[in-house]
Amino acid sequence: MREGVTIADVIEGRADWVVCTGDCLDLLPSIPSGSVDVCLVDPPYGCGKAAWDATYPTEWYPMARAVAAAVVIITGSIGLRDTMAMVRSDVVDVIAARNMNALTRGPIGFSNWLAAVYVGAKPRQGPNAFDFVVTGDMPDHPSPKPIMYMDKLVRRVTEEGDLVLDPYCGSGTTGVACVKAGRRFIGIEISPEYADIARRRIREAVPTLFQPTTKAVQAEIFA
Ligand SMILES: C[S@@+](CC[C@H](N)C(=O)[O-])C[C@H]1O[C@@H](n2cnc3c(N)ncnc32)[C@H](O)[C@@H]1O
Repeated sequence: MREGVTIADVIEGRADWVVCTGDCLDLLPSIPSGSVDVCLVDPPYGCGKAAWDATYPTEWYPMARAVAAAVVIITGSIGLRDTMAMVRSDVVDVIAARNMNALTRGPIGFSNWLAAVYVGAKPRQGPNAFDFVVTGDMPDHPSPKPIMYMDKLVRRVTEEGDLVLDPYCGSGTTGVACVKAGRRFIGIEISPEYADIARRRIREAVPTLFQPTTKAVQAEIFA
């Protein structure tokens, strides 16, 4: 938990973000139905990168559907088949993101795109494809999402002020993108080590009044 902030504090507007250490299967049932705008999930894909990545989990999905108006699942190409089998006819659309400078291994060779499967009500209108690049500033986690990807996805599927829930939040990339874009955030992560990394990254990303700006921006402010 972040310095005494609870999930209820974020839902009821007393805090903007929290990362809870715990099992999302235990914590999701305590979140009131319909209290979240978008559940943005980057679940384990069952590709064996770590002990937690042995299988593709599905038990979280009905719980996420109950708490959030929309559920957006980042699948990569490896997790696409299992995700489609889980959401079945709930699927509304898929948002494609092309990786402009790196490849991952996919089912039929090297893959240069990420899929995000959209489920739920009232999808925000806009393009359903964008490009991103992977930059060097990756946290100490086996499968962090690139920050440019998450920045663009958060802005694509949420509105300013929305409450976003990531029940498999890892090193907190979703939370970083949310606080930068003025979205509220609840993260759940089972590993205390990754949860600490997430809290640190989010704390450092929260915009402050005194954040350093470029000379061009300063000139504009003080003109
Ligand atoms: C694919 S990673 C998420 C990576 C994240 N998007 C990032 O950018 O760092 C999935 C995460 O889910 C966590 N996890 C696995 N099972 C969990 C559970 N039952 N409850 C909460 N977190 C879990 C793992 O520890 C891992 O950090």
